[in-house]
Amino acid sequence: MTHRLFEEKHHASLYQRYRFIPPDAVKELVLQYLDKKKGQPHMLAVDLGCGTGQNTRLLAPHFQQVVGIDISECQLEEARAVPGLPNITYRVGAAEELPFADGSVDLLTAASAAHWFHPERFLKEAGRILRPRGCMALLGYTDNLGIHYGSCGDRLSRIYTEMREFLSPYTSSQVAVANSRLQELFDSIPFPDKERVEGIEVKNQMSVRNLMGFIESFSYYQAYLRAQPEAARAFLQKTQARFLEEMGASSPDTVMEVQLKYFCVLACKPH
Ligand SMILES: C[S@@+](CC[C@H](N)C(=O)[O-])C[C@H]1O[C@@H](n2cnc3c(N)ncnc32)[C@H](O)[C@@H]1O
Repeated sequence: MTHRLFEEKHHASLYQRYRFIPPDAVKELVLQYLDKKKGQPHMLAVDLGCGTGQNTRLLAPHFQQVVGIDISECQLEEARAVPGLPNITYRVGAAEELPFADGSVDLLTAASAAHWFHPERFLKEAGRILRPRGCMALLGYTDNLGIHYGSCGDRLSRIYTEMREFLSPYTSSQVAVANSRLQELFDSIPFPDKERVEGIEVKNQMSVRNLMGFIESFSYYQAYLRAQPEAARAFLQKTQARFLEEMGASSPDTVMEVQLKYFCVLACKPH
């Protein structure tokens, strides 16, 4: 089954505005892994489920060519509208059926996306298109954010947890796959040379307004919005009001610290 939860224009534009860019620590981890396992030159990187291209653009300076692939044309339209290096192209496609020749890809990445792929079909394609010693990097973060502002961080994190619990009836089972840090997918990777790095902590300064935009971009908030548009909008406003009240702030531009934990599944195709 293909998950098509990211197709609407408004949803894609939320992605472009509010989703996190993978941190340097994760980018370096991936590039150093590729250097160590395969060595230079790095010709072709393919970023699967590229969405609006946050991770695709990070890879561009390090490869001769980078291709971002997504099943959602709306996401790709947003990606193409962002200035980037000329060696990037974006193509519609599915992670389970990729338009690349056998043994042609140096690095295959998926940022916050691999939990949506069909595991066996994706891994078969990955094994086909990677060069010998080519690498796969499946990165993401779990959705238990830590929020800090003055002395009320615990209470803000609690509001966030309650928000997630409230939206749980709208949450796809694939979100649990991401929160498991892709455990089953990791176990199914047929390459013996594989590892999973976890708990890479990243702190972002962000306004309450941007946190609300981030929440709005979640597939499960969008599912709630489709089911109950008025209630969903009111819920978002109420959640923002709860954050501000707890912080003793009136402006949604007030900045808080949001802490995320990234993980990265790394694997190298044998010779
Ligand atoms: C949570 S978003 C992540 C987007 C981006 N990589 C990021 O880091 O913000 C997941 C993306 O995967 C795409 N997607 C889902 N299933 C896919 C599949 N089978 N093949 C290719 N893309 C897929 C969705 O359209 C969506 O843009």
